[in-house]
This record gives sequence, structure tokens and C-alpha cells, in this order.
Amino acid sequence: MTFIEPVLTKRIPCGPKSDIKGRHIVTLEEYQRTGGYKALEAALDMEPAALVALVKDAVLRGRGGAGFPAGLKWSFLPPVDGKGSRYLCINCDEAEPGTFKDRLLCDFDPHLILEGIAIACWACQLDVAYFFIRGEYHHQARVVERAIEEAYAAGIFGKQGMMRGKVKFAAECHLHRSAGAYICGEETGLLEALEGKRGWPRVKPPFPAVKGLFGRPTIVNNVETLAAVVPILEKGVAWWKSIGVESAFGGMPSWGPKLMGVSGHVAKPGCFEAPLGVTLSALVNDYCGGMRGGKKFKGAIAGGVSMGVLGTDQFDAVMDFDIGRACNVLGLGTACPTIFDEDTDMIAVARNSARFFMNESCGQCTPCREGSGWVYKMLTRIERGDATTADLDLLVEVAGSMGLSEGTTICGLADGTNWVVRTIVEKFRGEFERRVKPKFVPLHLAAR
Ligand SMILES: Cc1cc2nc3c(=O)[nH]c(=O)nc-3n(C[C@H](O)[C@H](O)[C@H](O)COP(=O)(O)O)c2cc1C
Ligand code: SF4
Repeated sequence: MTFIEPVLTKRIPCGPKSDIKGRHIVTLEEYQRTGGYKALEAALDMEPAALVALVKDAVLRGRGGAGFPAGLKWSFLPPVDGKGSRYLCINCDEAEPGTFKDRLLCDFDPHLILEGIAIACWACQLDVAYFFIRGEYHHQARVVERAIEEAYAAGIFGKQGMMRGKVKFAAECHLHRSAGAYICGEETGLLEALEGKRGWPRVKPPFPAVKGLFGRPTIVNNVETLAAVVPILEKGVAWWKSIGVESAFGGMPSWGPKLMGVSGHVAKPGCFEAPLGVTLSALVNDYCGGMRGGKKFKGAIAGGVSMGVLGTDQFDAVMDFDIGRACNVLGLGTACPTIFDEDTDMIAVARNSARFFMNESCGQCTPCREGSGWVYKMLTRIERGDATTADLDLLVEVAGSMGLSEGTTICGLADGTNWVVRTIVEKFRGEFERRVKPKFVPLHLAAR
């Protein structure tokens, strides 16, 4: 099944054949007229614990990168203690290169996100929500701010609260604009930034659910994760499970629709709502009109640069949460692939990606702070043709030793350098070997 009935984008024309001229910002009035905020009403008729159980049953896996099940995360919250606020942080930092999916919802259907936020606040008994938005998203920040104002005016947010029978729901929602650093998207870097400090990730545990913003219980969820709660309530868990795929490895399933932003050398790049489990080739051919200029597929960034790359023989990769295991990449990430055609210089891709991670390292961990700079310098030498095969081996060793997966860093930013560099060298080694000199030839002799 390649195409599905859109639910996250039902008010936003964005299918392969849709005319994007029909796009406009959905107002509160239009959102409610088309069934909006009915899921919130249904949620308020349920006990919070039953809602958490429902989201748990749906196995709604986080859409921000790690794929952690939202319901399970929600269930880690301690009981309400009455000692202060409990927070929801909406992660809209979206600074992963090649990723532009949360932006689509902010741009055109902000109330879908706000409804998901309100439902999550009720389910988890959270009373303050911070919408943490990427610094460069000026327009999106204005759109979301206006939608929050509309929601306050309609009594959806605010101290007076919404009454449903004898049940009162009252939560505040504030927009917070990030200063514009990739590391502020990492959930604990985000918490530090929200507290007004430098965006330095925290050592975990304690996890935010137990000790998060201002030391209080906090849930951090991605924009799309929260938006997806709305159709789960509207259409039911059985419907949710009818989309997507079971794990081929006996692990957690990949259910539901997913926003997939496809960029690079395709005829029509864009952000599409596709079923989890769609193949990369179907995304390229059916959604994006094929490769640009009829060129051949060479490779792709799996789902945001930090996930690493897919090789030429992985065009049919299944876009689900098992892609890491199946295709030797870190994971599905944001499910926003960047496609490369046959003319792409993969060494330049590696060097450019490494430069990004070097610049964005917060500097707390030595392997990330120093290692990302070494990796970048080595790749620059390789690109110039000034390196030897020994440098190639050293490059793989240095890149492969950094990251959360290696147990050498506080956060996952360093894994980005590790995976993108290692997978490009592994999958395109011939290209690198043609550019470097044999290691047994001294450089001063080789230069003659
Ligand atoms: C360096 C780095 C940057 C990240 N940037 C984002 C981001 O922009 N948006 C996001 O939702 N998650 C981002 N994450 C993942 C978050 O730490 C966290 O897992 C996520 O917000 C949880 O939401 P989810 O469970 O709904 O996916 C990033 C992680 C790392 C290591
Ligand atoms: S891995 Fe890098 S970005 Fe993450 S905390 Fe360490 S130094 Fe900072």
C-alpha cells in the first residue's frame, strides 16, 4: 500500500498530485468546522490513565528521531504531588539537515498540534506547555502564536479551563523561540535552553519525566508525535494499526502514517504523508515523480543526516523503525530522506555533513568536541587528494569511536558524525580509495 487517506495533512494539500496553491493557514473556525477539537472533547470524557493506556496500546512511536513509544514515556511520570507545575515541552526545533516535516504542520494546520498538546496535557496531568520552536522559523512562530491566541480566546487554554461534565481541564500554552542551535533540539539541551541557560545536554538519568524542566516532571514530545494523537482518538487504535508494518525482527511495530520530507535529486521534492513501511523507491517514484532528469539513484541520507546513508543497492529500503537493523544505518530518524543521483560526490557529502556536526557540537564531551574537528580535517584532506589509505582507516576509527552508542558522549549529536562518516566510507569505499594515495608511498615522493 503506497498511498493512504491523509489524516495529519487532511487540511493541507500535499499529496503527489495536489496543487500546493490550495494551501492556506487553517483558522480555529475552519479547524472546528471540519471536526477539529472533537478528539479533545472525547479525551476529556476519558480518565487520564485510560488515555495513556490507549496511546500505549497504539504503540505511537516518537516522530522526533528516536522512535520511543509516547504512551510508555507518558507512563513514566510520577503521580501528581501538588508541589508545583508539571510540564509538556513540544519539540519543534527541527534543525536536522534535510528535515522539514514539523514545519508543514506549523505553517498550515497549527490547531492540529495544539489539539494534540491539550490531549497530552490532560492525559499526563500537565499544566504548562512550552512550544519550543526553531529560531529560524520566524513565520511559523507567528502562525503558531496566532493559533495559541485563538485557542486562549476560545477557552481551550487558560486558567478558567474547559468544563466537561464535572471535569475541569486547565493548561497554559506558551511559545518559546529557540536561539537557533541544533543541540537545543536534544531534549535535555532544550530544557536547559528553556531555563535560560546555555543549551548543554544533561547526563541521564534522571530522565525528564522524573526531573525535567525546573526540576519538575516533564514530557518532551515532537510536534508530529503530538499531532498524531488526534487521529488515534478520532479513528481508533484498530485503524491506526491497520497502517504501517510489523517488525521483521520481532521487535516493536511501526504503525501509523508518517510525514516524510523528501529532498535532493528528485523531480518533485516535498513533504508527504505516507504509511510507515513504504519503500524508499516508492517514495521517490510514486510521490516525487522519480529521479530528477532521469538520472540513476546513487544513495540517500536515511532520515536526517545523523542517521547515516543508504547505499546504491538500498533503493528499496523499507522506511520503518527497523531500517537501522535492516540497512546498517542508525535508524529511521525523522524519516526525511535526501536523495543523491549518480553525479553526487559522496566525499563532499561526508565532508559537508562532518562540518555541520563539528560546528554544532556543544563542546562538553572530548570525543565530540575534538573528534568532530579531526574528522572534518581528515575529510577535507581526502577531498583534496592529499590523504593516504592510512588516513581512511584512521578516519573510520576516530568517527566510529564517538557517540552515545559507543558510550563515550553525553548525547546523540556525536553519533551523527559517527554514522554519516562511517556509512559513507563503508558503502562508497571505492570512491574514497580512488581519491587517496596508497599508504606505503611517502607523501613527498607521491607528490612528484
Ligand atoms: C542533537 C539532537 C537534536 C535533536 N533535535 C530534535 C528536534 O529538532 N526535534 C525533535 O523532536 N527531536 C529532536 N531530537 C530528539 C529529542 O532528544 C527527543 O528524543 C524527542 O524530542 C522526543 O520526542 P518524541 O519521543 O516525540 O520523538 C534531537 C536529538 C539529538 C541528539
Ligand atoms: S555529544 Fe557533543 S553535543 Fe552532545 S553533549 Fe557531548 S559535546 Fe555536546
